[in-house]
Amino acid sequence: MKIAIINGPNLNLLGKRQPEIYGGQSFEEYLSKLRASFSHLEISYFQSNIEGELVNALHQAAEDSDGIILNPAAFTHTSVALGDAVKSLNCPLIEVHISNIFQREEFRHFSYVSSGAKAVISGMGLRSYELALRYFLPA
Ligand code: DQA
Repeated sequence: MKIAIINGPNLNLLGKRQPEIYGGQSFEEYLSKLRASFSHLEISYFQSNIEGELVNALHQAAEDSDGIILNPAAFTHTSVALGDAVKSLNCPLIEVHISNIFQREEFRHFSYVSSGAKAVISGMGLRSYELALRYFLPA
C-alpha cells in the first residue's frame, strides 16, 4: 500500500522552528523512524512552501497512492485552492497538525481542508502522522 505524506510551508524547519510548539526533531529524522516501523507501507514524502506546488502534489498523490496524509500548515487557514483540491481527490486524506490548532490563536481554529478530509488529527505532536498512518492498516 502506498501512502503519500505532504507537508506545507515552514515544516521544512521542524526541529529548529518554535521547538516549544513543534518539538526538536526534524521531519526527515522522524520519517526514517516511521518508515522503519511501517516497513510494509510505501511512504512517499513531499514538502513545499508554495501553495500551487502543494495542489499539484495532491493531484499527483491521488493518482499514485492509496491514501494521503496532509499537514497544510498555515495554508490550512487561508487556502481555498487546497480545500478545493482535497475535495476533488478520489482517495482518502487525513489532515494532521502537530499542535492542537484549537488551543492556539483564533485564526487557526478554521480549516479550509477539514470538510474534505476523512479525519483530522491535531495536537499529538509528530505522533499525529503515526496515528494517521495506522488508519491505513487493515483493521
Ligand atoms: C500546523 C498548525 C498551523 O496553524 C501552523 O501554521 C503550522 C503547523 C501544525 O502542524 O500544528 O505551520 O499545521
